[in-house]
Amino acid sequence: MKFSAKMERCGLSPMRKFAPYALKAEEKGRKIYHLNIGQPDIETPPVYFEAVKNFSQPVLAYAPSAGVPVLLDAIRDYYGSIGASLTDDNILISTGGSEALQMVMSAILDEGDEIIIPEPFYPNYSTFITLTGASIRPITTRPEEGYRFAVRERVEACINEHTRAILFTNPGNPTGTVMTADELKLMAEIAKEHDLFLIGDEVYREFVYGGEPLMSLLQLEGYDENVVVIDSVSKRFSACGARIGCVITRNRELYNQVMKWCQGRLCTSTLDQIASAALYSVGPEYFDAVRKEYKARKDALTEGLKKIPGIVYSEPKGAFYVMAALPVDDAEKLQIWMLEEFEDQGETLMFTPAESFYRTPDTGKNEIRMAYVINRKDIARSMELLAKGIEAYNNRQT
Ligand SMILES: Cc1ncc(COP(=O)(O)O)c(C=O)c1O
Repeated sequence: MKFSAKMERCGLSPMRKFAPYALKAEEKGRKIYHLNIGQPDIETPPVYFEAVKNFSQPVLAYAPSAGVPVLLDAIRDYYGSIGASLTDDNILISTGGSEALQMVMSAILDEGDEIIIPEPFYPNYSTFITLTGASIRPITTRPEEGYRFAVRERVEACINEHTRAILFTNPGNPTGTVMTADELKLMAEIAKEHDLFLIGDEVYREFVYGGEPLMSLLQLEGYDENVVVIDSVSKRFSACGARIGCVITRNRELYNQVMKWCQGRLCTSTLDQIASAALYSVGPEYFDAVRKEYKARKDALTEGLKKIPGIVYSEPKGAFYVMAALPVDDAEKLQIWMLEEFEDQGETLMFTPAESFYRTPDTGKNEIRMAYVINRKDIARSMELLAKGIEAYNNRQT
């Protein structure tokens, strides 16, 4: 059988590829601390489940392709409340932020096109882009410079006649970087001057720890043709299993193009859309409490990292991830060894080796991403395991 060359070029998710090793470790009775996957343990607001219970229509019918009105209204009102005025027909509901990304990539990229993305980046971007036949032109960023990339010369050096768009996650996965208003403005200006789409993946938008709210690309005025925002209820409301996200754009043509995909797949889950609309009734006190918890976890993680000799990392300002460069030759080898050979009191650790977060070859080999989505005590223990694991791994080699 022959498979699509585009699909053949895609890789497996680095967040999931060590699962078989983890299974074997668990069969040996090891307890594993999971810092490898961004699945929050925060409870989903009960309004979600109440809305499901209260659903009383006799037929679970298809929803409109662009989304159920009650959810479109909720998203429109939310953005209105942060100073980004939208109408319902600026919003297309998708199966998670994941499908929103696929829709946009499919609508704007062709074989041979390029999209600029600062690296390290969320590896699934690569899958969605590879499937269009386009390629990623990375802007390499480093922990020593806080993973910042919004510098005119650096961005413009990547633009050529094949460039169609610039994509970034804000707050950053995996870097935890939060872009300033000036940086966003500069990126929008560059996109406008070069006639490019500017795609802001804001699925972590509530998780900013410096006290300032996140500025959305949608709050910028004068860039309606360029700006596209990807949003999702997954992380914001700890509702990953709802699989509800959206594409937001004031660009009418783009909306119409994406609508073809929406109609092709008919609609996203009717019931999950209705329940997701209820999530938008959650007040600021919910986010204050969740932010406080994540900030405490971040502090627990960075406290532990500080104690490990030779580690380089940049203090994250948002999302719930930390990238770190470890004093080892190869983070993937360390991960496999920690699952196959290492244990401390029957326990070991999983993180995400970060080489595949980079497009540039031979970059990020000794780097990892950790998600602080488990409780503080377990985070502290995870950092002990990381310290012990690195030491034992390096001693084993000598
Ligand atoms: C940066 C980023 N964008 C999009 C997504 C997609 O999430 P979902 O499809 O659950 O909305 C994720 C999930 O981890 C992510 O980290």
